[in-house]
Amino acid sequence: MNLSNQQLLDIASKIAKKVGKKLARKANGKVRTKSIDKHDIKLIEDEESENLIVKYLWKKSEIPILGEENHQETEFLNGKVWIVDPIDGTVNFSRGIPIASVSIALWENGQPLLGIVYDFNHDILYSGIIGVGAFRNGKKMMVSQNQKKSDSILFTGKPILSQLDDSVIKQWFGYFEEFRKVRMIGSASLSLCFVACGNGDVYAEDHIQLWDFAAGITLVQAAGGKITYEKSNKNKFSYIVKATNGQIQF
Ligand code: IPD
Ligand code: CA
Repeated sequence: MNLSNQQLLDIASKIAKKVGKKLARKANGKVRTKSIDKHDIKLIEDEESENLIVKYLWKKSEIPILGEENHQETEFLNGKVWIVDPIDGTVNFSRGIPIASVSIALWENGQPLLGIVYDFNHDILYSGIIGVGAFRNGKKMMVSQNQKKSDSILFTGKPILSQLDDSVIKQWFGYFEEFRKVRMIGSASLSLCFVACGNGDVYAEDHIQLWDFAAGITLVQAAGGKITYEKSNKNKFSYIVKATNGQIQF
């Protein structure tokens, strides 16, 4: 199968919308818990959604798939790989907080190619292809033009893999001082979409896992922003990620 990037984007958008619409019907917090620990929760809905996405992507594209729930064995640094987070913002979703997405990226040789993030609570589809552009429900989106941190909003989070020690707290104090506002909305993918469409200006999170940021970071780059992602030492999929509007020094 030799599909164009646009055809691949359409495939990912179609299944994300289908699965997202199903999730939206459950967005009242009436969910089925699979496992729970101190700072994380896994739902049957995570697993079911991933299975639907994987089945569809494989049928339509035959490209290997890496997924948060049950598909972590795929080698993702060689060739094209779909990277799937069936629900990014699971804790929000489990409590009926309407900040969560279905997130699908296509990367090639460890670099972003295209991505979609479906905000199923608000029926907003963010999509983008590197070198082509990024779109919010089909309308072109661009990063903000802010140049100063003091005019800017920073999105961050506290991933399950990171420890909250003095150095992290100190870093966060710095953020609160420097930026106009700091936001922790519980969904890396939507935080990155807000940077991509110019509602925010910077996203930074340490030890965050590939599926949480792969699609969102692709959108920031496609929308004209600057991204960096460096491997961190927590596990095979953990990264230190920064994404900006390309103007702010960070
Ligand atoms: C989580 C969200 C959150 C981030 C956590 C992730 P999940 O993803 O992206 O913003 O801070 O590190 O685990 O578990 O809801 O897919
Ligand atoms: Ca998830």
